[in-house]
Amino acid sequence: MCGIFGYVGNRTNAANIVLEGLKLLEYRGYDSWGVAAIPQAGKKIAVKKKAGKIGSASVADMPKSTLAFGHTRWATHGGVTDVNAHPHLDCTGQIAIIHNGIFENYEEVKKKLLKKGHRFISETDTEVAVHLIEEYTKTMILPAGEAGFTKAVQKAFNEMEGLNAIIVTDTKNNQLIAARNGSPLVVGFGDGENFLASDAAALLPHTKQVHFLEDDEMAIIGPNAIMLFNAKTGERLLPKKQRLTWTTAEAEKGSYPYFMLKEIYEQPGVVADIAASGIGQAQKMADKLKKFRHLYMIGCGTASYAAIAGEYLFSKIARRHANVAIASEFGYHLEFLTRESFVVAISQSGETMDILESVKKTKGKGATILALVNVLGSTLYREAHEKMLIGAGPEKGVASTKAFIGMLAHLTLLAYAVAGRGQEGAAVLTLAVKSMKAVLADANIKRLKALAAMLRNKNHIFAIGRGLSYPTALETALKIKEISYIHAEGLAAGELKHGPLALVTRGTPCIAFLPNDETYGANLAGAMEMKARGGFVIGISHKPHEVFDEFIKVGDAREGTIMPNVMVGQLLAYYLTLERGFDPDMPRNLAKSVTVK
Ligand code: M6R
Repeated sequence: MCGIFGYVGNRTNAANIVLEGLKLLEYRGYDSWGVAAIPQAGKKIAVKKKAGKIGSASVADMPKSTLAFGHTRWATHGGVTDVNAHPHLDCTGQIAIIHNGIFENYEEVKKKLLKKGHRFISETDTEVAVHLIEEYTKTMILPAGEAGFTKAVQKAFNEMEGLNAIIVTDTKNNQLIAARNGSPLVVGFGDGENFLASDAAALLPHTKQVHFLEDDEMAIIGPNAIMLFNAKTGERLLPKKQRLTWTTAEAEKGSYPYFMLKEIYEQPGVVADIAASGIGQAQKMADKLKKFRHLYMIGCGTASYAAIAGEYLFSKIARRHANVAIASEFGYHLEFLTRESFVVAISQSGETMDILESVKKTKGKGATILALVNVLGSTLYREAHEKMLIGAGPEKGVASTKAFIGMLAHLTLLAYAVAGRGQEGAAVLTLAVKSMKAVLADANIKRLKALAAMLRNKNHIFAIGRGLSYPTALETALKIKEISYIHAEGLAAGELKHGPLALVTRGTPCIAFLPNDETYGANLAGAMEMKARGGFVIGISHKPHEVFDEFIKVGDAREGTIMPNVMVGQLLAYYLTLERGFDPDMPRNLAKSVTVK
């Protein structure tokens, strides 16, 4: 959700470095932005903040400085206005703060601060935190200098209820003070300069040496040193340095107009890599998983559809039952969890609050957690007992594409490994790669563009499938609605006659997935039911059929057919979005990683 970037070092264009850092975080979704810089000379902190997107904004009018930080805000408390954007200042203008998360007890604290004479200009919870720090700098008996200021920040942070990350600076000490509980923060080690961000990918142009802050960890970041300590006990901590494996080029759009398109085109490569190098890891994990009695798979949004696909794959290939739950609902299954439960927690970002909360509760029941996650060092990655990296590279489009395909590829391989047929699983992935590449052939793209032009003014679209095509239908509908804003519904084809058919009228589009598997006949029946009521049937299949008004061919890749089928849904959603004049990378009201409940 909100993005954070901070810099302290020897370069004098800190505000600009921060603005460029914020641009790398834009993909997370935001509605306003701001930068604060501590000028080299002069006392006041310079702040520039605006509602809306950064666009071509510049910070050239901000003073030269060697320390700055900035924020992209996704409004929670208070509307989308310049004043509510971060950073926020205290009464004196000497302390500045940026904040991710929700300061749950801010109203109560604000009342007390108002009585003490503090004046607030925004409606945010964040502004309360900076005044609380100011209050402590005035009223606590503090050691002199920077240590005193840090103590005031620490005390204020410990009073903030909820899941929060704050970064604070002041005019007296050349340092950024960061504290984390719940919301992600990563520090980056440079040479004579150091960095801080909410997302490791934003640090790639500067450094690959990072430390991910743990909950209740605080960092004092100066140009030449980063000091870590526990916010509750004050105990000094050593950084756990990690080297990021992603490259700057992977995190850029390159020649593609949008990240989403780039990420769709990267998918055959992602699956080919997993086919080539994933068997060893899958086999090891399969050996562990087989020792457990109960298997669960959880995720949110698109990742929850990977979990549903996992359930079908495990049943069909490994003859193992997996219970699937939406992560935000998993808390209601806890009574069934024991030490014999194995929970596969699936997430691109590894920072989705709904899954993190479930995982914490699950651990409390003694269950073992496997994180199937794309972001190395993310909270889920660190919380889990076992880890499998998806290896899709940085995913920046808000609409998840290549991470989903990567999840499907790993789950396929894992199911085959549990069945003791890992090599066969890799062969299935190789078939899927071939079929995915064919989806991207020019003639096919032309057809999908024409189809999007045909559907652009529709109000409703249905997607149907059975078996593995059921999560395919769900994912297709989610992609269409989240970026093109056309209402779309994904259905198990058998459910049509139990209600949704009532909505079908002349010309209602229905995307029907009919791979060459045991669901073909029943899926065809669903397509016919739609057609008989006037529906416009778009068949996605290995062969044409007279019931199809439009046909997109997808080559058979056994269980791997789900991957090219999903790609067709992604591309259709993408071209529909362009047809309707929207930005596929930044859908309204949505954020890339949902770090609040
Ligand atoms: O980072 P995660 O995989 O945990 O995110 C889960 C969902 O928020 C995410 O998949 C969301 O549904 C996407 N916008 C779908 O494209």
